[in-house]
Amino acid sequence: MTWIDDRFPLSETYEYHMSQYWAPKNFNFWYYFGVLSFVMLIIQLVTGIFLTMNYKPDGAAAFTSVEYIMRDVDYGWLIRYMHSTGASFFFIVVYLHMFRGLMYGSYQKPRELIWVFGMFIYVALMAEAFMGYLLPWGQMSYWGAQVILSLFNTIPWIGPALTEWVRGDFIVSDITLNRFFAFHVIAVPLILVALVFLHIVALHHVGSNNPDGVEIKKNKNADGIPLDGIPFHPYYTVKDTFGTGVFLIVFFAVVFFAPEMGGYFLEHANFIPADPLKTPEHIAPVWYFTPFYAMLRATHHP
Ligand code: HEM
Repeated sequence: MTWIDDRFPLSETYEYHMSQYWAPKNFNFWYYFGVLSFVMLIIQLVTGIFLTMNYKPDGAAAFTSVEYIMRDVDYGWLIRYMHSTGASFFFIVVYLHMFRGLMYGSYQKPRELIWVFGMFIYVALMAEAFMGYLLPWGQMSYWGAQVILSLFNTIPWIGPALTEWVRGDFIVSDITLNRFFAFHVIAVPLILVALVFLHIVALHHVGSNNPDGVEIKKNKNADGIPLDGIPFHPYYTVKDTFGTGVFLIVFFAVVFFAPEMGGYFLEHANFIPADPLKTPEHIAPVWYFTPFYAMLRATHHP
């Protein structure tokens, strides 16, 4: 260790972020959702890599490559259902995480930047989910993308030209699918990982808020250790491991027994291959875009 520490700040980093990182004693249920967002990010990255090994980003092959993953690839069904269920669970935990921030005023001084990085994460996550949804190339993938891309048309002057540029074609096509694939598998994940890193750096610089709003850094002993703080490791590593265990039981119950969730996690129309000549009767986005869909329905006149 001495050899490494002389050349790389390993013990120092471990102490700063783990064994001597002081956290409030009174974290409650709501403080699980940060670590659970992190768990979901890892699950999506790992299952995504394995899906990419058998998925084909090609308008003529995408839909069947997903069916191939579901039926013929060993444990392909598990990887795919973990990824599709994972998308919904990612939003569930992130929404609860954001709700906690609002409820306890965690966006206030000195934590403004944690919140701002969080909002960027949220925007990136929506872009990631939207572009991922086009990839299975089902009817809802195709027409959902068509509706959302046409929103660019509403931008004055440059709208129509911009829409065509983003789409890469006059209609949603194989070209659109290819660029969405590039963004979904590498560009946006890189941005997400970078933003999460900044989110945690900002958090560890100022320290966590807590349900009672106690600023533990205001009350320190002679050694500069917060009197109301406990070391993150082992206290919260153990607590978070327990929370993660309970969460994974719920997550896998859905993966194994209700991966479609009655059409909320995997929509019925998406089991039909994309058809540019046939608009589905109802085009509705996945549940986690519901607030934005409501705004669109209330305001948009094509
Ligand atoms: C990939 C997504 C995200 C990950 C992995 C993540 C991770 C974390 C972690 C591990 C913590 C510390 C534990 C906790 O307080 O629960 C935290 C705190 C926090 N996060 Fe996030 N987060 C994400 C998204 C967001 C978003 C979208 C927002 C808000 C827009 C947000 C706002 C906050 C705030 C304000 C805190 C400090 C809370 C407090 O101290 O009371 N985060 N985040």
